[in-house]
This record gives sequence, C-alpha cells and structure tokens, in this order.
Amino acid sequence: MTSMRFSKTAAFAVASTVLAQRPEDTSICDYYTTALLKDNTADNQATLLTLVVNTVVIGNYTEPNVGVKVPGILAPGKYNGTDVNLLPYFTGELASSNRGGSHGVSVNFLDGGGAEPLKNNKPANSESSSQYFLLTHLYQFFGSLLGCSKQGMPGFDAYEGHASMYEVHKFMDLDPYEFGYFISQVGLAASSFGVANSDIQVVATALNSLFGYRCAPPTTVIESQGAQLQAICIDEACPLAEEATCDSYGPAVEPSSVPPSNSTSTTWMASYPSTPKPTGSGSTTSASSSYVSPYPTAIPTAGAVANGLGLAAAAGGIVAFLL
Ligand code: HEM
Ligand SMILES: *[C@@H]1O[C@H](CO)[C@@H](O)[C@H](O)[C@H]1NC(C)=O
Ligand SMILES: *[C@@H]1O[C@H](CO)[C@@H](O)[C@H](O)[C@H]1NC(C)=O
Ligand SMILES: *[C@@H]1O[C@H](CO)[C@@H](O)[C@H](O)[C@H]1NC(C)=O
Repeated sequence: MTSMRFSKTAAFAVASTVLAQRPEDTSICDYYTTALLKDNTADNQATLLTLVVNTVVIGNYTEPNVGVKVPGILAPGKYNGTDVNLLPYFTGELASSNRGGSHGVSVNFLDGGGAEPLKNNKPANSESSSQYFLLTHLYQFFGSLLGCSKQGMPGFDAYEGHASMYEVHKFMDLDPYEFGYFISQVGLAASSFGVANSDIQVVATALNSLFGYRCAPPTTVIESQGAQLQAICIDEACPLAEEATCDSYGPAVEPSSVPPSNSTSTTWMASYPSTPKPTGSGSTTSASSSYVSPYPTAIPTAGAVANGLGLAAAAGGIVAFLL
C-alpha cells in the first residue's frame, strides 16, 4: 500500500453534501474517488478502497461522516432478526480458514495490530501479518469489483489473492444471515461516505448474485483469473443457484471451535473502538433498512449488474462475466 498522506478534513469537505447523480459511463470507483478525493489517481483509488474497507471491518472511524453509524463486520449484530457474530472467523477461534488441507485451520487475522492501524488508514502494522494480506486483498478485490480504472498502475495493485471465493470461504459454512450482515456493513460503510442509495443497491445486488447462491456455476469475477467457483454463502439455508452445479462443490461443514487459549478475541475486544454488544432489536440505522434482504426476488441479469456497476465503460471488472 502506498502512503496515506491526506487531510481527512479537506478530503471529506464534499462528503456531507449530496453528490450529483453518477453518469452511466463512470464506474462507482472512479466517480466517488473524484467526488471525495478530487483527483482520480491510482493512489486516490487505493485510498478510497482503504477507507471504505477499513470502515466495513471496524465500523465508522473517519471524521466528519454523514451521520451513518457503521458497526462493522467484527461487531456482533442482527441480520433480519437473527443474531450474527462474525468475529470468531477472524480471531482464530474457529478452524475455518483454508490453507490447502482437507479441513479448516485456525488463523488469527487481527495479528497486525487489530483496529489501531485501520483507524490510521492502514491495513496493518506489519506487512508479513495475516491481517496485512487479508486487508490488502480486500482493497484490491473490491477495487476491481467497483471498476477502479487506475488499478494495476503504480499506487494500486491488481488483485493478488486467491481466485475462487468458494475456496477462500469453504470451511466457514457461511449462512444467509452471516452473508447478509457482511453485505449490510458494506452498504452502511458506503453510505457513511455519501455514496448514493442507488449505487449501494447496485453493489449489494452484484455481491448477492455473484457470491450469495450455493452451488453457483463457475463465474469470472476478476477477469485475469477466469471462471471460478464463487459461492460464499454455501450453508444449506442459502438459496440455490440457477443452473446449480452442486457436484463441483464439497459438502458444507460447520467449522470446529479452537480452545480459548489459542484465540485472540479477548485482546481484540479490549482494543475495539466501542466494545460492541449484541443489540436487542433490529438494525441500528434507517439506512440499513434498504438492504434487509440480500436476495432480490428475481436474480438480476448479468447485463443489469454490469450496467449498474458502471463497468461497461471501465476496463476490467466483472465485464468478462457479463459478456
Ligand atoms: C460478498 C461477500 C464477501 C466477499 C466479496 C469476500 C471477499 C473476500 C476476499 C477477496 C478475501 C481475500 C482472499 C485472499 O486473500 O486470497 C476474503 C477473505 C476472507 N473472508 Fe471474505 N468475503 C465476503 C464475505 C465474507 C463473510 C460473510 C465472512 C464471514 C466471516 C468472510 C470472512 C473472510 C475471512 C475470515 C477471510 C480470510 C480467509 C483466509 O485468508 O483464509 N468473508 N474474503
Ligand atoms: C460513527 O457515526 C455515528 C453517527 O454519525 C457517530 O455518532 C459516531 O461518533 C461515529 N463513531 C466514530 C468513532 O467516529
Ligand atoms: C428475512 O425475513 C423475511 C420475513 O421474515 C423473510 O421472508 C426472508 O426470507 C428473510 N431473509 C433471509 C435472508 O433470511
Ligand atoms: C494452540 O496453540 C498451540 C501452541 O501455540 C499449538 O501447538 C496448537 O496447535 C494450537 N491448537 C490449535 C487447535 O490451533
């Protein structure tokens, strides 16, 4: 990751005002990079993705914001009335990471300083930590999904992580509530930076259709990586894909717990911004009501997903999947 020298206050002067409608031929990444950080450079695109992904992970931390509270994926919450707690997948409490074997292993993804570097707009304190690889891969992957036109140039690397989102997540046995909660945090984070609801819907719909259906056939997400198994929601409660290819997926098995002595959750909670607790009722802000169900009644066509992401005119992205 390149340097993160920018003035938060100056950079976000525009964020509190309502942004104009995004032109159809401009990708979401390019549009909001220009709107929020002025120059549409590779460095600024990397910064935008850093800000948004860090907010998805630890909740809103930048000032000013537009009054949208983002709990973040590490905070316990509710999705559609069901309690969700994704933190154990990241602390090593669950043997849920794929390191090539026939079953999941425990990995602590908060080993690079936890929330503190993220609050400083960095992925991690150490470039050899699991946290560093996870966060930088998320910046790159979402940059590609959002059609960042300068990605691959100095300042913002192309996606360097694993090609199959199924392989990455296969030992997590994620269900619709966990998956939906993750996407709701992506939507809230975007909303907290002033991204228009119409653009948030486009992203949520794309994430749902690409990763939310079990047994989904191989699909290209990152053009250079070709068609891959991409289902992240693989629990039996997840909706079945059209043209399901269940034979190409292994059985979805719940990950086992790892003894507490091996887990980092206690240290993590101590450094967490607001020591979140599960809440008694539904979503925390009105903004979240627009993405309560991650599943559209009809699966959108690939073309609709493409147009929405503004990728028709942008290089790369999920264009290959669409054509
Ligand atoms: C639309 C939904 C999601 C997308 C697009 C997504 C994408 C990604 C990507 C790109 C990576 C990095 C892969 C690599 O480094 O090779 C990753 C890793 C990971 N994701 Fe997700 N993810 C999603 C949902 C979730 C959910 C719901 C969880 C729940 C806990 C989760 C937990 C993780 C974990 C623990 C890792 C680290 C895996 C490892 O390195 O072994 N993800 N994800
Ligand atoms: C997150 O956003 C809410 C709503 O605007 C705000 O009250 C809260 O102070 C923010 N948290 C941080 C750490 O900035
Ligand atoms: C959310 O709740 C509604 C109403 O109970 C239900 O119809 C819908 O299927 C639920 N969505 C998910 C993802 O569970
Ligand atoms: C727990 O930690 C010990 C000591 O670091 C290690 O030998 C052991 O394999 C770990 N157990 C699990 C299940 O990860």
